[in-house]
Amino acid sequence: MRHVISAKAFDRDALLGLLAEAARMQVALGRGGLRTQDGKVMAALFFEPSTRTRLSFEAAMLRLGGQVISTENAREFSSAIKGETLEDTIRVVAGYADVIVLRHHEVGAAARAARVSRVPILSAGDGAGEHPTQALLDLYTVWREVGRVEDLTVALVGDLLYGRTVHSLVYVLSRFSGIRLLCVAPDVTPLPADVREYAAAHGVRVEVEPDLHKAAQVADVVYQTRVQKERFASAADYERARGQYIVDRGLLSAMRADSIVMHPLPRAGEVAPDVDDDPRAAYFRQTHYGVPVRMALLERSLQAQVAGEPVWSESAEVQ
Ligand code: NCD
Repeated sequence: MRHVISAKAFDRDALLGLLAEAARMQVALGRGGLRTQDGKVMAALFFEPSTRTRLSFEAAMLRLGGQVISTENAREFSSAIKGETLEDTIRVVAGYADVIVLRHHEVGAAARAARVSRVPILSAGDGAGEHPTQALLDLYTVWREVGRVEDLTVALVGDLLYGRTVHSLVYVLSRFSGIRLLCVAPDVTPLPADVREYAAAHGVRVEVEPDLHKAAQVADVVYQTRVQKERFASAADYERARGQYIVDRGLLSAMRADSIVMHPLPRAGEVAPDVDDDPRAAYFRQTHYGVPVRMALLERSLQAQVAGEPVWSESAEVQ
């Protein structure tokens, strides 16, 4: 089954294939979209807030000719509040939809959902764990904007500990050669050891660079992130991390003309608004790339066979 749970599941060929497929989807979008998923239903089950991820998944399904059912605050407005387990919710929703997009506050939730689901689960983020589809659209952004996904210096900036988009992006970049990662993080939010070790084991040069200016001078991509306030156990640690690294016009002047600034968004002060007008500010274009990439992912998953007995039979007979 074509679940999308971890960015680690995509090898180099799968990633290159997905980039090409997303590029085809982008062309199709320019022509008004496709009708390949006519009659198919996507359920968006979001236990954590989201703007971009949910709406771009929904837009992607609609642009494929499919339809969408959605709960945007499943933590309060689904039966989770009555004590229903995630597994039971998934078993139920899998009878209503052909694919489920799930965002949840617990690490490992998407994998748990996949174990009981008869339809593909696409993770839209599991706590501070991973955000695989964001990493795929981030890779697509790099490919389109920088022109290659190999031989890259990427400065990862901000909350590398709780920032799930960073973890998945590191896994994806690890599949390519000539990757150098400069980790520019407050001391309370370093890149987790397991993520760092994974990258190193795949031949990535991972360096700690506390000086954002120095990193920006050599980077092809400055990947800025929000300090994930909601995930800190200690308010004092959050205060220490917040506001330490800011992308502003001064930093842009240190960056090369052919480099870009990315951010998964939302931003909370770490990219100054007057950066937006610079052509190197790629973060709004990055949000738009979410649609063709998620169209490609939905197509890939909806080709998969459903597991187990059909929910609906073609016969109207009463058993
Ligand atoms: C991110 C997320 O939810 O992990 N947003 C997104 O999906 N684009 C980043 C964040 O919340 O800071």
